[in-house]
Amino acid sequence: MKRLCIVGASFRGYTMFASKIFHSHSDNTRIVGIYDPNYVRSEYYRDTTFNDMTVYDDFDKMLDTEHPDAVIVTTIDAVHHEYIIRSLDRGYDVYSEKPMTTTEEYCLAIREAEKRSGKRVTVTFNCRFMPYYAKIKELVASGIIGKPLSVNYNYVLNTIHGGDYFKRWHRFMENSGGMMVHKATHHLDIVNWILDDEPEYVSAQGARLFFGQGKRLYSDEPIGERCSTCEHAEGCPNYQDHTNAARLSKALYFDAEHVDGYIRDHCPYKTDTNIYDTMSVSVSYKSGTLLTYALNLFDTHEGYTMNIIGELGTIDANTFIEGDPLLVVRYRDGRVEEIRLPKEEGTHAGGDDRLIAMFFSDEDISDPLCQCSDSFDGVKSAMIGIAANRSIKKGERVHLTPILDKMR
Ligand SMILES: NC(=O)c1ccc[n+]([C@@H]2O[C@H](COP(=O)([O-])OP(=O)(O)OC[C@H]3O[C@@H](n4cnc5c(N)ncnc54)[C@H](O)[C@@H]3O)[C@@H](O)[C@H]2O)c1
Repeated sequence: MKRLCIVGASFRGYTMFASKIFHSHSDNTRIVGIYDPNYVRSEYYRDTTFNDMTVYDDFDKMLDTEHPDAVIVTTIDAVHHEYIIRSLDRGYDVYSEKPMTTTEEYCLAIREAEKRSGKRVTVTFNCRFMPYYAKIKELVASGIIGKPLSVNYNYVLNTIHGGDYFKRWHRFMENSGGMMVHKATHHLDIVNWILDDEPEYVSAQGARLFFGQGKRLYSDEPIGERCSTCEHAEGCPNYQDHTNAARLSKALYFDAEHVDGYIRDHCPYKTDTNIYDTMSVSVSYKSGTLLTYALNLFDTHEGYTMNIIGELGTIDANTFIEGDPLLVVRYRDGRVEEIRLPKEEGTHAGGDDRLIAMFFSDEDISDPLCQCSDSFDGVKSAMIGIAANRSIKKGERVHLTPILDKMR
């Protein structure tokens, strides 16, 4: 029986790790201890479903009592490094949610702790387990388009999803690294993984044009403080009732708010935020491949296009197309191949379940596509975002190679 401890009684910790392990892998894996500075959230985990979890009020005490096989880190992004390093130094392997961490200093500290402890950090990049991305990886690795020369990746979130990051802790750079780290870490890892290459130079632009403006665009209605008390909710595209008792967010956030003042439903139009809502980045890779990546948080719809242009042809991915997911390969000799994939159910198109099975099931699952990611993968994707933020702020192009060299 594999015994795990979890730090961060978060929404993600509940839905991704605690629930999936409990419901699908309880015969061989158990989460035995949980720590979060907000005891109400931890107790909710224990008192609803996961009755055999012990709630701790001290992280180190939890490790010293439970001696787990590994620690799962699902706190806010800015403190991942603290728990990763403390776990490694006490002799435990770690599974960390993305982004592995939010600053260059923390990336280096994690790599050093890993080396001195001989223990291992796995970053749970679930998008690698999504069938659409996995198929692109497989196609590129098969060599059908030859060496990829250029990648154009445009990712948009709709106003509800994008605005949600302006409603809670993500709204401050110091908590999340902004969307270039918190959100883009998924996408940048996907490109690093598909290309099997290392980023070398990064330059970026970013702005906040829709949220955080002190008003709603195209509306003269005033804004409020938070959804749950807002008098101007009618017609607001971002109004949501997060307090509905049927929702996990009521238990984890509203019922726990008195302990730490964590507010779940800030008005996303308030001006006291410092993250960007639209960003564009250029990354050159060691082998010469150029990535052009854009992330926008206020589109009318949601999805992405990705074109990978290679020596022998192009792979076009486009999630806006109706029907089952479609990939189109256009060869330079004029042939066109259409690849339809079956639509997959489950969170992140079943990717979350696949990731959990890979790490926590009894079976020995092979990994031909290298879907399991280590701390250097975590460093590479986080560092592109961190460098992009630096580039946006200082107007400079960041040379990543000497930074990554320190972390090898
Ligand atoms: N891979 C994915 O698709 C995916 C999706 C959502 C979230 N996530 C990641 O999961 C993590 C949790 O996100 P969420 O939205 O579920 O969070 P959440 O807001 O639901 O919970 C964050 C938790 O962190 C705790 N916390 C804050 N400061 C802490 C500290 N100093 N020490 C210990 N705990 C502390 C809070 O008390 C809270 O319980 C984040 O790292 C996020 O990036 C990943």
